[in-house]
Amino acid sequence: MPRIAYVNGRYVRHAVAAVHIEDRGYQFADGVYEVCEVARGFIMDMTRHLDRLDRSLGHLEIAWPMSRKALQTILREVVKRNHVVNGMVYLQVTRGVAGRDHVFPAAVRSALVVTAKRSDPAVALARAETGVKVITVPENRWERVDIKTVGLLPNVLAKQKAKLAGAYEAWFVDPDGTVKEGASTNAWIVTKDGKLVTRPAESGILRGITRTTLFDLAAKMGLTIEERSFSVAEAKAAREAFITAATTVVMPVVAIDGDPVANGHPGSIALSLRGSFFDVAEKTRA
Ligand code: PDD
Repeated sequence: MPRIAYVNGRYVRHAVAAVHIEDRGYQFADGVYEVCEVARGFIMDMTRHLDRLDRSLGHLEIAWPMSRKALQTILREVVKRNHVVNGMVYLQVTRGVAGRDHVFPAAVRSALVVTAKRSDPAVALARAETGVKVITVPENRWERVDIKTVGLLPNVLAKQKAKLAGAYEAWFVDPDGTVKEGASTNAWIVTKDGKLVTRPAESGILRGITRTTLFDLAAKMGLTIEERSFSVAEAKAAREAFITAATTVVMPVVAIDGDPVANGHPGSIALSLRGSFFDVAEKTRA
């Protein structure tokens, strides 16, 4: 059964899906994206993802490619056509296709691509039960990482560096030693007295949707969240550390730059947050 992608108005075979060579996403990274988790046949937190898409598009003055309702239908349709029960759905909106010129083209239609991919929840669970390693890298991204643009070259390079070091994620660190976020995840620690700590979303990170939903979950579980910066040293000495994203949900971190976090095993709070996430997130049937 072939994979299917949505490209500018048509459902096409993934293997031959293509955009024009002068799509501004391709030439200038002039576009934005979203990734939603798909779990047990539901698209998770679609409302929040589309709200953030609206914000990203607004900041870059890119028009919605269609109505929000029509986009929701396409997301569900792509998930359905690919028989994704667990995995993710990806959407990308670029400013559109126009002759190469840095300034915004006049009257161009924004371009939309949607893909979906299956993944095995058993693999993710096994990874969560082992925990993942992270390395730290100096922050070298632009200031507007709060906008979810497809301009991800520093993230790509950091992630590759992590892979070569035998780690899963790279944490960007400011010159003052505080952790910003991962290359594709938000960063968290748990203090000795059981408080969750994560950097304020106004402070040079992407406001992750998983991060936002974790606030709802923490409240339900009676856990306190402190939104403040934390240093690499504090993370290494913490009771637990973990990362969050639509692609990883809650993933325990067991080592930072080769030093174990606590006893080097996944923390119980991270695992219980992971276990309850599905119950709290918004679920849209695909
Ligand atoms: N990344 N920070 C960065 C830099 C990210 O790229 C992401 C998501 C997050 C977490 O956001 P959310 O909880 O909304 O997924 C934080 C996606 C998954 C990606 O690039 O594949």
